[in-house]
Amino acid sequence: MPTPIHLVTGATSGIGQATAKLLVEQGKRVVGIGRSIERLPEGVEPAQLDLRDVSAIKNFFQSLADDQESIASLLNSAGLALSSRISDGDPDDWQRMWEINVHALALCCQCALPLMEEDGLIVNVSSQSGHRVPSAGGFYAPTKFAVSAITEALRKELRAAGRRVRVGAFSPGFVDTPILGDYLRRNPDREQQLRDAQALLPPAAVASLIVSMINQPPEVEVGDILVRARGQVS
Ligand SMILES: NC(=O)c1ccc[n+]([C@@H]2O[C@H](COP(=O)([O-])OP(=O)(O)OC[C@H]3O[C@@H](n4cnc5c(N)ncnc54)[C@H](OP(=O)(O)O)[C@@H]3O)[C@@H](O)[C@H]2O)c1
Repeated sequence: MPTPIHLVTGATSGIGQATAKLLVEQGKRVVGIGRSIERLPEGVEPAQLDLRDVSAIKNFFQSLADDQESIASLLNSAGLALSSRISDGDPDDWQRMWEINVHALALCCQCALPLMEEDGLIVNVSSQSGHRVPSAGGFYAPTKFAVSAITEALRKELRAAGRRVRVGAFSPGFVDTPILGDYLRRNPDREQQLRDAQALLPPAAVASLIVSMINQPPEVEVGDILVRARGQVS
């Protein structure tokens, strides 16, 4: 049987990329999902997928099943943070965020479950914006509240079904990744203000926390990690 894989969506950038890199450094077998697979860290096996494409997601997991692969962990890190307000934002932006942040994440959970090792782990990347609504967050925070709710709903479904697969969320504040440019596009000075205030988490620090969730013994199920840089006020 092939070595179980650690599957990472969003492995081509930011949090997912840093986590995939660290997992490889720890000797784990990692498959990374994204469109820009040329940006995958060295040693990560590529899975070029557009997560808006439901059939492509299903076909990908079917191909894993056909190859008798099993999944040790799934990190759902792919996401969009478009600055798009409820009052006047573009509904197309809402739909794009919903497709990736919510629908694709839930579908990846569902498709991965039949392939998960008995004590496997799913980590869904939520956000501080899955815990409190920022004043300028628009439609992004609703997608992240949905991630927290999906994670808790899935945990209860798994326990009710007597399955041992664990599921948890990871909820960072601002992390120094390319997504910030989109999130702060209405307020371009804000990124420099955050840097000056040391309010950005380094992706490598975030990755080490996620990997610590993955490396917990099977008895331990981390529910959520809420983390922010020291300089982030709210
Ligand atoms: N950075 C922060 O401040 C922060 C804070 C809280 C939570 N988060 C959350 O952390 C997660 C990762 O964000 P990040 O900061 O690492 O952002 P990032 O650097 O922009 O990475 C986003 C990832 O999502 C993937 N992605 C986007 N659209 C996709 C699509 N249609 N199909 C497949 N993959 C797609 C991208 O891959 P391709 O472009 O290669 O397809 C990329 O790997 C997100 O869920 C975000 O909401 C971030």
